[in-house]
Amino acid sequence: MPASDMPQALSLPKLGLGTWRMGEDASRRQAEVAAVREALAMGYRLIDTAEMYGEGGAESVVGAALAEALRVGDVRRDDLVVVSKVYPHNATRRGTPAACARSLGRLGLERIDLYLLHWRGSVPLAETVEALQDLQARGHIGRWGVSNFDVDDMEELWALEGGAGCAANQVYYSLGERGPAHSLLPWLQARGVPLMAYSPIDQGAIARDPSLAARAAELGLSAAQLALAWLAAQPGVVPIPKAVQSAHLRENLSAARQVLDESTRAMLAARYPVPSRKPPLAMI
Ligand SMILES: NC(=O)c1ccc[n+]([C@@H]2O[C@H](COP(=O)([O-])OP(=O)(O)OC[C@H]3O[C@@H](n4cnc5c(N)ncnc54)[C@H](OP(=O)(O)O)[C@@H]3O)[C@@H](O)[C@H]2O)c1
Repeated sequence: MPASDMPQALSLPKLGLGTWRMGEDASRRQAEVAAVREALAMGYRLIDTAEMYGEGGAESVVGAALAEALRVGDVRRDDLVVVSKVYPHNATRRGTPAACARSLGRLGLERIDLYLLHWRGSVPLAETVEALQDLQARGHIGRWGVSNFDVDDMEELWALEGGAGCAANQVYYSLGERGPAHSLLPWLQARGVPLMAYSPIDQGAIARDPSLAARAAELGLSAAQLALAWLAAQPGVVPIPKAVQSAHLRENLSAARQVLDESTRAMLAARYPVPSRKPPLAMI
């Protein structure tokens, strides 16, 4: 493909906020809206959600927080990157625009900035790509991308008409799950496609690792911060930790600004090595 026809690489903030497990329980809704609201006020500019999370509940939590943050001027719409995802079984020619319209309604927005196929299902990929391109042409989404795609899926996508318009791949990548570093991350980096790292603190587990915590403390960081700083420093990698607790939100955002020295990076590389053979892509 001539360079002039290459789609523009998507520029994303260094770290975003995840929302899985939000919107599932009405008794927690107020705290969750307040958390997303607080995140926006403290400077988060990328919010990741999906129609799957709480069956629309998480999008509605995000929508309520966004409406208030935009109203009081904590954030400008153009500075925000709102990411949502379509279920594979909805990702048909007709189902995709219908799902997107429902998501837009819950988010209270006219555009989803980045809309991902959540994982591969039985709908032909070419049909989904066409539907996503159509949504983009109509301005309902800014860009489209994929999630849980391994190298072979990406190659299949790249071979499709317009497939290289994919703006991101969101996969499980963390200190605890180093698989993508073997070949998927280099593949994406070579093409300028961001890897959004989900479950970047292994759903909280890495934060509870006492020896990592001890090493992080020497640097004045928490274990979660060390894990996030390590991810955010890798070219094209954007971690999206989920947090509701205020202290977690603050810790995580500031982690993206930490610069790790060579000896810390070497220690992490030795403790959490890249697998010598390519493992299958892990999914949560
Ligand atoms: N595309 C996909 O298939 C897929 C799959 C999984 C996840 N995701 C996305 O990625 C996001 C993040 O992944 P995740 O939610 O699975 O896991 P995660 O972000 O690795 O971990 C979230 C858990 O860690 C806790 N936590 C957050 N910051 C912390 C800190 N600084 N110290 C200690 N604990 C901390 C949170 O607690 P509190 O909430 O109590 O603060 C929560 O229990 C999701 O929310 C979702 O948006 C996408």
